[in-house]
Amino acid sequence: MKKIAIFASGSGSNAENIIRFFENDARNQVVGVFCNKPDAYVLVRAERLGVPAFVFGRDDFYRTGAVSDKLKALGVDLIVLAGFLWKVPDDILADFPNRVINIHPALLPKFGGKGMYGERVHRAVIAAGEKESGITVHYVNGRYDDGAAIFRAVCSVAPDDTPETLAAKVHALEYAHFPQVIKEVADNL
Ligand code: GAR
Repeated sequence: MKKIAIFASGSGSNAENIIRFFENDARNQVVGVFCNKPDAYVLVRAERLGVPAFVFGRDDFYRTGAVSDKLKALGVDLIVLAGFLWKVPDDILADFPNRVINIHPALLPKFGGKGMYGERVHRAVIAAGEKESGITVHYVNGRYDDGAAIFRAVCSVAPDDTPETLAAKVHALEYAHFPQVIKEVADNL
């Protein structure tokens, strides 16, 4: 059984979708939700779904090794960033080579980088007059939104799209594809 840890900072609708997907998977299991925001709604979702949650601060992540220790204690095989906004420290990336993946709500390399998350991404896509957006699942390296792409899916951007309507289209792509992409990566570890 491969063990998956989900990192999330906010609402956690992807986290919930991933947890539900793997409830019926014989080969992979979500063993924990890691969250850097004590009031994030993802923690409510994790509790309802019966998945242990771990709330951590900057020191736990970047200085003391507490997050890294917890990942190792749980025997985590794959780390999935699903709306997680902090940069993953080098020691964790070194301990989990090609085992940290992220979803970005646009077609990288466009509209990525520090500060590009959630609604800000959709606002920038519309402001740039793009005709298409979508999702990119990629390996995580030491730079924001920079690692090798694993999967992309595309949606159209209509002239009357707002950040909210575009977010809804992108979320639909995320829900439809991200769990299956995670499964393929996990199954091939
Ligand atoms: C998702 O759209 C995800 O792609 C994005 O945050 C949203 C989280 O939604 N991630 C980023 O922008 C990372 N740069 P959720 O909390 O409802 O899953």
